[in-house]
Amino acid sequence: MKHKKYKIILVAGARPNFMKIAPLMHALQDHPSLEAILVHTGQHYDEKMSHSFFKQLNIPKPHINLEVGSGSHAVQTARIMERFEEVCFSEKPDMVMVVGDVNSTAACSLVASKLHIKVAHYEAGLRSRDREMPEEINRLVTDAITDLFITTSEDASENLFSEGITNEKVHMLGNLMIDSLVNQLERASLVELKLHDLDGQTIDNSWLKTNAGYAVMTFHRPSNVDNKKALNVLVNEWVKTSELLPIIFPIHPRTQNMLRQFGLLKTLQSTPNIYLTGPLAYLEFLKLVNESSLVITDSGGIQEETTYLKIPCLTVRPTTERPITIWEGSNQLIKAHEIYSKAAGSLQMSKSSFGIPKYWEGKAAGRIVHLLEKYSIS
Ligand code: UD1
Repeated sequence: MKHKKYKIILVAGARPNFMKIAPLMHALQDHPSLEAILVHTGQHYDEKMSHSFFKQLNIPKPHINLEVGSGSHAVQTARIMERFEEVCFSEKPDMVMVVGDVNSTAACSLVASKLHIKVAHYEAGLRSRDREMPEEINRLVTDAITDLFITTSEDASENLFSEGITNEKVHMLGNLMIDSLVNQLERASLVELKLHDLDGQTIDNSWLKTNAGYAVMTFHRPSNVDNKKALNVLVNEWVKTSELLPIIFPIHPRTQNMLRQFGLLKTLQSTPNIYLTGPLAYLEFLKLVNESSLVITDSGGIQEETTYLKIPCLTVRPTTERPITIWEGSNQLIKAHEIYSKAAGSLQMSKSSFGIPKYWEGKAAGRIVHLLEKYSIS
């Protein structure tokens, strides 16, 4: 008699989830004893925020798309929960695996846990200790009900131990985002970059081929971009910093909305050395970062990617849930008004002083699947 496979629903919702699930889906495809069902919550839904990642990372089409779209935190989380519960009723999975710290992560783990379905959390244990970050709430909620904790660094495991999680439930298996990066770096380097401004006009980026150096910048944290005063300080610093080197700024939809709303977009559009584009696809962004001299960001994942690539990274946030990128890597936490002065210093740094954390080498997916195999028969 054929044995029933152990059924795992893998959840992805927002842009930073896609590069984490890609290597896992590939490693789980045609697995003899594990069956993976991919559920996309639809938290991100645009061509640029979602579809392009599926295409470029060759992620199979999701089995189910909950199509929840944007909304306030409560509305979005509630919609995901309602629709995901139906999926759990019909699919009857043995396990739900969530990744990262977005609203989809917390919503789906809560649904699964209440239905007594095992919850695995990849990227467990990260803590910024800043409860004003929606992601920190999502991390705390998810880890409070997770059964199997997969961490990306020892400090994350230590956070879980100090919260009373027992040793045998925690597995430090490396970084899936770096798996995607390692898998795609060569393809990315061959991409012919075609950048477009916010009106869809082609940007002349022939100068990128010279060795003069440029910075890549991303901002989307509500604490930086949803407040007019804070955003004003940032805009002034960006303009000043662009006198040091050209800045390429792929703008997240949230940031674009806020810049428009506060009347600040025109200033940026008329600054000659700042190049605004819409959000970029994975390979284009990876190529840009890999060939840049400096990254200025408030993202979580980019702190990890720049650590692997040994590109100096200025993170404009008071805290980070990824301190290992500072201890071992090329990352620094800075204040908004320090961007210009720190950028000048970062350009002088030598790559040889930067290290790469353990298991950030491109083989995390294999280790995770091995753990899931063992767990499924335990
Ligand atoms: C979400 C995550 C954040 C992650 C970020 C990456 C939460 C709480 N936040 O924040 O952790 O770092 O994704 O991007 O889960 N929008 C579009 N197209 C889309 C998606 C969003 O235009 O495909 C616009 C909408 O106007 C929306 C806004 O962007 O209101 C913000 O999107 P939302 O998903 O609410 O939060 P993010 O800021 O993207």
